[in-house]
Amino acid sequence: MRRIIWILLGLLCLPAGGFAGQLEPCRDVPVPAQNPQTAAKIELGKKLFFDRRLSGDGTTSCATCHNPEQGYSDGLEISLNYPTTRNWRNSPTLINVAFQKYLFHDGRAATLEEQALFPMMSAFEMNQNLDFLEEEIRTVPEYVAEFTEVFGDGDVTRERIAMAIAAFERTLISRDAPLDRFLTGDASALSPEALKGYEIFMGKGKCAACHFGVNLADDRFHVLNVRENPEHLQDPRIAATRRFVAKVYHFEEYRTLAEDPGRYLITKDRQDWKAFKTPTLREIAGTAPYMHNGIYATLAEVIEFFNAGGGQGNTVLQPLQLTPMEKDQLRVFLEEGLTGAPLTLTYPKVP
Ligand code: HEC
Ligand code: HEC
Repeated sequence: MRRIIWILLGLLCLPAGGFAGQLEPCRDVPVPAQNPQTAAKIELGKKLFFDRRLSGDGTTSCATCHNPEQGYSDGLEISLNYPTTRNWRNSPTLINVAFQKYLFHDGRAATLEEQALFPMMSAFEMNQNLDFLEEEIRTVPEYVAEFTEVFGDGDVTRERIAMAIAAFERTLISRDAPLDRFLTGDASALSPEALKGYEIFMGKGKCAACHFGVNLADDRFHVLNVRENPEHLQDPRIAATRRFVAKVYHFEEYRTLAEDPGRYLITKDRQDWKAFKTPTLREIAGTAPYMHNGIYATLAEVIEFFNAGGGQGNTVLQPLQLTPMEKDQLRVFLEEGLTGAPLTLTYPKVP
């Protein structure tokens, strides 16, 4: 009886992705009842995603930093920024983002609808005033017609803008990777090298302790002590960004904050100091550089990091003692095994 209770409790604690340590093939994303997917809404969201009106100076769209040609990221260590400012974190891919329970490296947003307004308002990203944006979009007859079709009337609100963008983001799914075919019964879907890498991922490398489920992510935050980039620590523009975000999140000592506090910023729980979200590994070959601050340019470097037992002083990882051949097999699994069919996208005509 006691055992059954423990099993039930265990199930409650697990993320929607499935059982700890078990990988799952791709499937459709969950859609919230308040924002059902329709073809017209997805199309509207796509236009808004590519529309530079969403930024204060009209230079930047969501696609600037989540570029379809760069795996819906921007290929930079730390992401692009509003002129005269500098961003402080790496732009994550938006592929499979709809599977995530928490958004942002520190998990400060819970839904795509909520998240979409952050970059528009952010002083160091799009720096747009949302009251102004609503009026701006209302002046475009094509948009008013589309809002009417999608939402029943032509009222352009920030909530509707976010709903449409979120609907578009839910279409960005990695499908038909060799791993998916392998998990659904095609024993030869992974090349011999990738198969060896898969075995290391599941076994000696202990990667699946945190990277599991359909998204190869546990929806949790871990303190791996990825090192800071010294150049970033010296840049006053990044210091301003970091302190600004910390101030918004009521971090008392924000003026002297000299590094990225990670999840601590949100929870103020000591255990979350420099904890970051486990990212998806889907399409990982196309979304370098890696980690919240883009400190690693290649997957080989990331594997080296884990093989060494993670960053200095961390208490979650241990050295793995992988041989050079095993490290390479692991890299091949990540590169080949998790790359799906190319995502097709027809670029919209922004009105
Ligand atoms: C100037 C670059 C930039 C622009 C423009 C931008 N983003 Fe981002 N985006 C980022 C960065 C950097 C992060 C990570 C920030 C963090 O974790 O604190 C991020 C995070 C996200 C996430 C969370 C992903 C995850 O895995 O947690 C989503 C979703 C997202 N952006 C969607 C959008 C949408 C929608 C737009 C347009 C309304 C947009 N972004 C505009 C740089 C940008
Ligand atoms: C204790 C949990 C944990 C384990 C075990 C773990 N990871 Fe991670 N992984 C993370 C977290 C958390 C991050 C993000 C760290 C950051 O941004 O600072 C990450 C980041 C990564 C990234 C970079 C992803 C990106 O988009 O930036 C790769 C690649 C990766 N892990 C692969 C692996 C491999 C391969 C293994 C096994 C050798 C492994 N991980 C083991 C938690 C874990």
